[in-house]
Amino acid sequence: TGGFGGSVPAGKLGVIKDGVKQGGGFFYVPEARSWITVYPAAALPVAEAIYPENILVAMREGIAVISQQCPHLGCRVPECATSQWFGCQCHGSQYTGVGEKKAGPAPRGMDRFPATISAAGDVTIDTGSVVPGPAIGVNTTGQEAEGPHCTSGGEH
Ligand code: FES
Repeated sequence: TGGFGGSVPAGKLGVIKDGVKQGGGFFYVPEARSWITVYPAAALPVAEAIYPENILVAMREGIAVISQQCPHLGCRVPECATSQWFGCQCHGSQYTGVGEKKAGPAPRGMDRFPATISAAGDVTIDTGSVVPGPAIGVNTTGQEAEGPHCTSGGEH
């Protein structure tokens, strides 16, 4: 467990899920430079055909583990509480709450890190194995914006 670039312990799955709720839909793990959000069980059948196995492990447990780094030019992407999406402040890329791309100049959805969940419920994020985000057009959850956006979503 050596901080970013290695395996980062993120805590118990139940604590993380509570943290997502307390964070208004978003849980930040600074040491992993990652966001964790809810991945809805209803969307899993679609996700199974799209995401690699090492990413599905966490999704099957109800969480998406998402790199904070925008796949456009690398800015840290903040959450948008009103839309319940992510909105990059640098050039306006927008992503759903599970980091699937909706608008802006980014070339794909937000990148991911594999996570493992032990029998005791301890979540560990492997920040040394970034997995590129899903292609433009992938929208496994169909989540519409739940309020006003925090960025324009336009091209720069
Ligand atoms: Fe995020 Fe450009 S770095 S949209």
